[in-house]
Amino acid sequence: MEFTKTLLVTGGAGFIGSHVVRRLVINYPEYLILNIDKLTYAGNLNNLKDIENKSNYKFFQIDITDKKAIDEIFKLYSVDGVIHLAAESHVDRSISNPDEFILTNVVGTLHLLNACKSSWSDFNGKCFYHISTDEVYGSLGDDGLFTEETSYDPRSPYSASKASSDHIVRAYGHTYNLPIKISNCSNNYGSFQFPEKLIPLMINNIKNKKSLPIYGKGENVRDWLWVVDHAIAIDLIYHEGVIGETYNIGGHNEWKNVDLVHLLCDVMDEKLHRPIGDSRKLITYVKDRAGHDMRYAIDASKIKNELGWEPSVTFEEGLRSTVDWYLSNEKWLDDVTSGAYQRYYKEHYSQ
Ligand code: NAD
Ligand code: TYD
Repeated sequence: MEFTKTLLVTGGAGFIGSHVVRRLVINYPEYLILNIDKLTYAGNLNNLKDIENKSNYKFFQIDITDKKAIDEIFKLYSVDGVIHLAAESHVDRSISNPDEFILTNVVGTLHLLNACKSSWSDFNGKCFYHISTDEVYGSLGDDGLFTEETSYDPRSPYSASKASSDHIVRAYGHTYNLPIKISNCSNNYGSFQFPEKLIPLMINNIKNKKSLPIYGKGENVRDWLWVVDHAIAIDLIYHEGVIGETYNIGGHNEWKNVDLVHLLCDVMDEKLHRPIGDSRKLITYVKDRAGHDMRYAIDASKIKNELGWEPSVTFEEGLRSTVDWYLSNEKWLDDVTSGAYQRYYKEHYSQ
């Protein structure tokens, strides 16, 4: 079959990337979707089992810091668009091992930009879409929201690496007229999320009656968005967003960590037929994260007003469906929590 477009997704075997790839492969059978991913601890081809044999989908195990391999892919395929999600994504790991974050998130992004710039003879119909985070804006006090105009103030090695890559992407747009788009999204949750992040980590620990480590006093606030709604927003921005623009994506759904963990405990007690209140007893307050940002919250009015995007589910609905997914995908959870995860967990949480 002749495909109308070739779209290259990076990091498509990760949490958000797998939802994006799935959506594109299913909704756009006329596109060829190339997924390039290094398959780090966070990348997992089991996240894509349901679409791996589709005729409009191809996977390549490639490290984006490998310039030769990136250039090769651009020689092999006439790529029309890139949706760039590949990244080291966990703040705690960026604190203990920042180098990997600079290499993948900054240098890897540079290689992709250069490949687009040199292989696209004209920029008509082309697009480099960079997926970023609200953490680039720093930390909020009790009031206010991040808008697209908020100044950058990254404070962790992770957010600094994402901020650097955002700046480089914008610089390529400004200097070389490369057709770029950027979106900055709040915290995601949902199926296939690696259980190092708050929600799946707590689900896994509640399930196994392990202690629930809350950093500091648990008063830090995050704005949670269901991953499928992020994937819908990415699809919309890729197809209808304006070249050169930035879009903030968020759920208008702020939760203090401790309140969120309480809710999760209660939902899981109900689902696991335990007495309500049982799992809350597992909560332990542990040493705070170094440089822990207090509050993130997104003003998502631009994407709502200009592209008509809004979250499709309430938090309660999204959280319940997420818990159901983890409870009915025990094998997935067991596979990703064996071996290296155990070593990471012991090392990180014994401090
Ligand atoms: P993730 O850690 O689950 O997945 C990252 C993927 O990138 C993995 O499949 C991994 O194998 C791949 N990868 C890592 N290094 C690579 C390399 N050098 N070459 C090729 N592939 C590599 O991350 P995620 O949560 O799905 O995040 C995806 C993107 O969205 C990231 O850019 C992240 O900064 C951004 N983001 C995440 C969130 C969130 O809440 N998780 C929120 C906003 C933005
Ligand atoms: P996380 O899921 O790591 O996302 P991010 O740091 O990118 O926002 O953490 C979400 C919040 O939960 C953050 O304030 C840190 C806190 N947290 C804990 O209290 N305990 C944990 O074990 C983890 C992983 C996170």
